[in-house]
Amino acid sequence: VQERPLLLHNAAELVTVAGFFDPAAGDQMEELGIIQGGSVVCQGGEITFVGKSADVDGTVPDDYTVIDATGKVITPGLVDAHTHLVFAGSREDEFEQRVRGKTYLEIAEAGGGILRSVRQFREASSSDLLEGALSRLDRHLSWGVTTVESKSGYGLETSQEIRGLETIARASKAHCLDVVPTFLGAHEFPSEFRTDHDAYVQLLLDEMIPAVVESGLAEFCDVFCEEGVFTVDQSRVVLQKAAELGLGLKIHADEFSDLGGAKLAAELGARSADHLVRTSVESIEALAGSGCVAVLLPGTTFFLGHETYAPAREFIRRGVPVALATDNNPGSCMTECLPLMMTLGCIQMGMSPAEVLTAVTINGAHAVNRSHTIGSIEAGKQADLVVFDMPSYRYLPYHVAGGHVDTVVKRGAVVLDRSDRTDSQSGLT
Ligand code: NIG
Ligand code: FE
Repeated sequence: VQERPLLLHNAAELVTVAGFFDPAAGDQMEELGIIQGGSVVCQGGEITFVGKSADVDGTVPDDYTVIDATGKVITPGLVDAHTHLVFAGSREDEFEQRVRGKTYLEIAEAGGGILRSVRQFREASSSDLLEGALSRLDRHLSWGVTTVESKSGYGLETSQEIRGLETIARASKAHCLDVVPTFLGAHEFPSEFRTDHDAYVQLLLDEMIPAVVESGLAEFCDVFCEEGVFTVDQSRVVLQKAAELGLGLKIHADEFSDLGGAKLAAELGARSADHLVRTSVESIEALAGSGCVAVLLPGTTFFLGHETYAPAREFIRRGVPVALATDNNPGSCMTECLPLMMTLGCIQMGMSPAEVLTAVTINGAHAVNRSHTIGSIEAGKQADLVVFDMPSYRYLPYHVAGGHVDTVVKRGAVVLDRSDRTDSQSGLT
């Protein structure tokens, strides 16, 4: 928390995304609450004033720092609600194999894929894991992201999964970004259990989930529910156990086939269902009204070179709140660039520029159960803000991977400054 209060002054557009107690759904996703010529005051790590620049006088305490946002856009700090940022090594050779015609599944069957990352993870030192996570967080920050969700899931045995979650906790503590931890022990069946899937599920129930809960290192439990991985029934028992012990629920659902993962999310009251490329209209209707956020990951479809994207318009039309995230991971989407997901959301899924901004702010915050503190610019919320050097928020999806981040404020402190400004103190200039 920065000592000195901060005034971000006179933005061309102050995009507040304010007023959503529940996730924004349907037409609400277009309501950005823009203040033209807007200013924000931050004090003690919180937002204390939001309004017209002309009304700032008298609201700023003595001895404050001014950031002049004239001609620029201010948004809430972006929220990336689905990543796998604790991994070791990389899989660029598999990327090349895919480019040359092999599929993600063929590569996995030949010993690559998630299990290859599991081998790399188990061999990596804890300091290398931490270093990798921290450098990825730097990249997330460079795109204006101030909160990231991250899953474990490359350890696939109790002590290794705990090591993954410990790395998340350490990274969150050492870095200015916040990382929301999710246990994904049900990411794959480890090689030790290739021929006895039920035994691994039993291990998750009897040992892994209780140990994770005991450690206090996870807020959510996630399952990769997919053909060849965890069935709907296996996913159900894993998630039910996690819920019983107090974890929030997430699920990788309907990515390659309409297995029924989204319906299960609705049934169990999951906080989010993610991917949802193949989700049927019937399942979308089940999700609507369940309170579950659809976290769509268009970067994965793009990175895998697939043609069919998640049916975002169907979700929005039927009242399911949509968030967008990167899925940052070494196999199916190697990027930290959340604004690129906004571009893909518009071009490939027919979302509007306003909808994609809602999807990476307040709806992302809801997907990680942080909407009471982040995801919008409102007095009383944590002061997580981004100044973009662009005349309109529409540039975010429009200028592809444009890199317009000018300044990032986390809990009221400037944590990234790419402006050519020399900060003026105590008084408007
Ligand atoms: O979300 N779907 C499963 N897990 C990741 C892929 C992880 C990997 O290939 O290493 C995903 O796409
Ligand atoms: Fe994922």
